[in-house]
Amino acid sequence: MTEWQKSNWRNKPRVQMPDYTDAAELAAVEAQLSNYPPLVFAGEARRLKRHLGAAGRGEAFLLQGGDCAESFEQFSADAIRDTFKVMLQMAMVLTYGAKVPVVKVGRMAGQFAKPRSAPTETVDGVELPSYRGDIINELDFTPQARIPDPRKMLQAYTQAAATLNLLRAFSTGGFADMSRVHSWTLGFTDGQEIEKYTEVATRIQDTIDFMHAAGITADTTHEFSSVEFYTSHEGLLLEYEEALTRLDSTSGNWLAGSGHMIWIGDRTRQPDGAHVEFCRGVLNPIGLKCGPTTSPEDLKVLMERLNPENEEGRLTLIARFGAGKVGEHLPRLIQTVKDAGAKVTWVCDPMHGNTIKSSSGYKTRPFDSVLREVREFFAVHQAEGTIPGGVHFEMTGQDVTECTGGVRAVTDEDLSDRYHTACDPRLNASQSLELAFLVAEELTKRRAAGADRAVG
Ligand code: PEP
Ligand code: CO
Repeated sequence: MTEWQKSNWRNKPRVQMPDYTDAAELAAVEAQLSNYPPLVFAGEARRLKRHLGAAGRGEAFLLQGGDCAESFEQFSADAIRDTFKVMLQMAMVLTYGAKVPVVKVGRMAGQFAKPRSAPTETVDGVELPSYRGDIINELDFTPQARIPDPRKMLQAYTQAAATLNLLRAFSTGGFADMSRVHSWTLGFTDGQEIEKYTEVATRIQDTIDFMHAAGITADTTHEFSSVEFYTSHEGLLLEYEEALTRLDSTSGNWLAGSGHMIWIGDRTRQPDGAHVEFCRGVLNPIGLKCGPTTSPEDLKVLMERLNPENEEGRLTLIARFGAGKVGEHLPRLIQTVKDAGAKVTWVCDPMHGNTIKSSSGYKTRPFDSVLREVREFFAVHQAEGTIPGGVHFEMTGQDVTECTGGVRAVTDEDLSDRYHTACDPRLNASQSLELAFLVAEELTKRRAAGADRAVG
């Protein structure tokens, strides 16, 4: 491989990126962004890599979640706080139920650019370029709104910086203190999964009270009063990514300063393409979506390119096949990883293989399919003797009706009530919590099976 430079992706074939019409304006925005501070620091990205390495060995578990696409219009402190709260609740359920440390990574503070299944969209006979996320163009169905505008990168940067600032404050400023475990429940949630959560929270509270009495407090042990929370997004808009890439002076390596973890989408993972070229040279942990069309040959090359040193935690493979298809596709990719002796962290994204159009015309995901894909993912790893290292969800703390099903069953007819996503349908707070209980159950089963093996 030739020596990596942050702009070399420009010499490679690119897909899913906008053709900006005003080259001078684009260059001016890139120059401006290049002078802005990075949003994250190299030491943080390395630390996350170590945590992901632990997840790959089964000593931790990744919980990655957030919006499909962050939106300029829906940007608010409350929305960030509520998603953060649900992730804390899910993490508590997983930690308490499955007894593993949970690595918390938001699809937040940078998740603005979207790959699309078609370059154009046709409504009532009118064809316009597709919406590609707020960092690129606008959702409104007008010719003007769909023109890619480089200045939107500056707004995305500002929103990402403000989001991350709030997340950092929530993480360490007392909000995430474990003794507030009851306070993370959102007002509008009720039903069975909240009862289950309240029970878990009460038990955690009891344990904390006991430890306080024994002299272990947030003052002596800061793990009680703060959490580590990381950010991630698809590294799709490479002009933005390149402009925020910085040299880490301690290691001499390059950092994508736009977020802690960057992933490569299912539509942009061509081994010789621009996105792989960019990602191979940055020190961040890298995610790689693996779908039904990921061939073992490509995966082999991608692993060599993206993780030539076979470093633990560097590469997370995010499986997104769809319910009913995991058994058909995952084993051969696991075999490829085994044959290569590659160190990877396997994660399940049960969202992107399960998108359907409802009879009412909305893009939705049946919650049952989401649950089923998670179960299948665990079952295949159990059969292969490999490690399920985490989950990746599209979710929100808002009380939306975007995915059908769940304990507080959202029906096809309900979808129109509160369908707010800027892109794909997200799990609401209740569905997210229900899913966390299912994952905790699967992890507990695994632990029990492991203990049996150790004994027998
Ligand atoms: C996404 O994560 O929002 C996405 C588009 O996923 P995929 O690339 O797996 O389709
Ligand atoms: Co999505």
